Amino acid sequence: MSLDLILMGPPGAGKGTQAARIASQRGLAHIATGDMLRAAVRDGTPLGREAKAIMARGDLVPDDLIIAMFRERLSAPDTEQGVLLDGFPRTSAQAEALDGMLDGLRRQIASVIVFEIDLEELVRRLSGRRVCRAAEHVYHLESRPPKVEGICDEDGSELYQRDDDREDVVRARYEKQWVSAAAPVLDYYSGRGLVQRIDASRPRDEVAGEVDGLINGLDAHA
Ligand code: AP5
Repeated sequence: MSLDLILMGPPGAGKGTQAARIASQRGLAHIATGDMLRAAVRDGTPLGREAKAIMARGDLVPDDLIIAMFRERLSAPDTEQGVLLDGFPRTSAQAEALDGMLDGLRRQIASVIVFEIDLEELVRRLSGRRVCRAAEHVYHLESRPPKVEGICDEDGSELYQRDDDREDVVRARYEKQWVSAAAPVLDYYSGRGLVQRIDASRPRDEVAGEVDGLINGLDAHA
């Protein structure tokens, strides 16, 4: 049986940090729509050319483009054991499209884990975030520095600061994408009793322990 999970939360809440770890430990496919879009921008694909300016402003990329990109990703064989969704769905249209795709596979979302954290902590985290060019491995200048400054420990590629991690864009992303756009998605899943909330402002290991506890609880009830 597959295990299909969603991690939701504002920008910089730590979804990607936890998702990478959980997916590798549990053999789930980690699907991060932000990472996929940045790869499309880097590769100069038609999707990347359309998304580039939208992302730099902190806006959402249109639903039809995201849903088509996600649909293709979900058809890959590595998703059969389950998926860990990081950054998708972000609108009601995306949530409904996801349900339709999973229905077709006779699967359903097991839980939506929501990372709760306040805006000032997000600004602190994102101003210090650095990611690697090759594979989006995530660092923080103070709380998780690389061994060699500016170089990824895992693959040796250069670390850079995302354009949308500037403070003004972080605040815009928080307002537009979390306060406004996410509310109906949370209602959609709350109505089905799927939402579980965690305090994401704590250190990484404590957040990891709580998320693992929630997922283990799902396994026990499966
Ligand atoms: P995306 O890349 O998904 O950005 P996001 O959701 O804003 O999330 P982030 O990657 O910024 O943060 P995170 O929660 O993963 O935090 P992280 O683990 O890195 O999307 C980018 C853009 O693409 C969007 O703005 C939009 O334009 C577009 N897009 C993407 N999906 C879309 C969709 N479905 N529909 C439409 N448009 C879409 O951690 C942050 C930092 O904090 C790191 O430095 C990390 O080391 C540190 N940290 C993590 N955990 C802790 C901790 N517990 N304590 C201290 N520091 C920590």
